[in-house]
Amino acid sequence: MACSSLTIALNNGVQMPMIGFGTFTIQGQSLITKVLDAALASGYRSIDTACVYRNETEIGKALKDLLPKYKLQRSDVFITSKLAPSDHGKERVRQAVLDSLNRLNTPYLDLYLIHWPGAGRIASQSPSNKNLRIETWLELEKLQKEGKLRSIGVSNFLESHLKELFAFCTIKPAVNQVELHPHFPQKELVVFCRREGILVQAYSSLGGHSSHLLLADPAVQKVAKKEGKTVSQILLRWALQQQIGVIPKSTHSERIKENIRLDFTLSSESMSALSSLKTNQKYAWDPRSVV
Ligand SMILES: NC(=O)c1ccc[n+]([C@@H]2O[C@H](COP(=O)([O-])OP(=O)(O)OC[C@H]3O[C@@H](n4cnc5c(N)ncnc54)[C@H](OP(=O)(O)O)[C@@H]3O)[C@@H](O)[C@H]2O)c1
Repeated sequence: MACSSLTIALNNGVQMPMIGFGTFTIQGQSLITKVLDAALASGYRSIDTACVYRNETEIGKALKDLLPKYKLQRSDVFITSKLAPSDHGKERVRQAVLDSLNRLNTPYLDLYLIHWPGAGRIASQSPSNKNLRIETWLELEKLQKEGKLRSIGVSNFLESHLKELFAFCTIKPAVNQVELHPHFPQKELVVFCRREGILVQAYSSLGGHSSHLLLADPAVQKVAKKEGKTVSQILLRWALQQQIGVIPKSTHSERIKENIRLDFTLSSESMSALSSLKTNQKYAWDPRSVV
C-alpha cells in the first residue's frame, strides 16, 4: 500500500508529506512529464527541485497538464525548491525566488531552502559566507511573511551553521535537508534538529550516485530479506521510522511505485542493525569545510 497520506506538521503548522519525489538529474520535458505522471499515479504529493537542477520550468509545465489529469489542485501538492549558491545575498535572493515561482508556474512555494551554507564563487573558508547567509535568511523571512513561501528552511547545514542562524533569525528553519542513510546516519545532527523543532529530511537515502554501494551492502540486504521487502524500501522506511522525511529519486515507474510503498514497520532488531553499520561514508557534497 502507498504511504501518500503520511504527513507531518512543520514547526509553523504547515503539513508536509513525509515522502516526496526527488528530481535531481532528471531533465528534459518528456522525461519530467513521464516521471511526474508515474509519481502522481503512485500517490506522491510532494516534489523536490532546486534552481540548480535546471528542471523547474519543465516541472511547472508538467504539473499544468498532470494536476487536472489526477483531479488535483495546486494546494494538493507540496512543492519544494532551493536557492542556488550563486544567489546568496540581499540583492539576489528576492529575484531568485520570483524566478523559481515563475518557472514553476505557481504563486507560492510550500518550502524554500537555502541549498548550501556557502555562497557561489566565494571560498568556503571566507567569513563573507556568514554575512551572506544572514542577509539571505532575513530576506527569506520577508518572503515568507508576504506569502510567497509557506515555509523556509535550509539544506546541508551543520549544527554550527544552525546555531549561528538562531542568533539573528525571527523565524526558525522548518526543515534541514541533509544527506542521510545508514552509511552516514548523522545521529548527533538529528538529535540537535529534533530538539530545536527542525524537521530533518534525508536526501540520497539510497546512496545517491553511489547507490550501488549502499544497495549492495550485505548487512542492508540481510535486513531486506528478513523483512520481506526490497532494499530500497527498508532504507526509506528506516528513515521514516525515525521521523525523518525522504525524497527518493527514480526515473523508472516500477521503482517510483516501490519507493512509496512503505506502509510497514521494521522490527527494532532491523532498525538497530541498520543504525549500527560499520561503514561511515558520505557520498554527496560535504559542507564541513564551509565556515
Ligand atoms: N539538498 C541537496 O544538496 C541534495 C543533494 C542531493 C539530492 N537531493 C534531493 O534528494 C533527492 C534524492 O537523492 P538522490 O537523487 O541523490 O538519490 P537517491 O534517492 O539516493 O537515489 C539514487 C539512485 O537510486 C536509484 N533507485 C531509485 N529507486 C530505486 C529502487 N527502488 N531500486 C533500485 N535503485 C533505485 C535511482 O536510479 P534510477 O533513476 O535509475 O532508478 C537513483 O538515481 C534528489 O533527487 C534531490 O531532489 C538534495
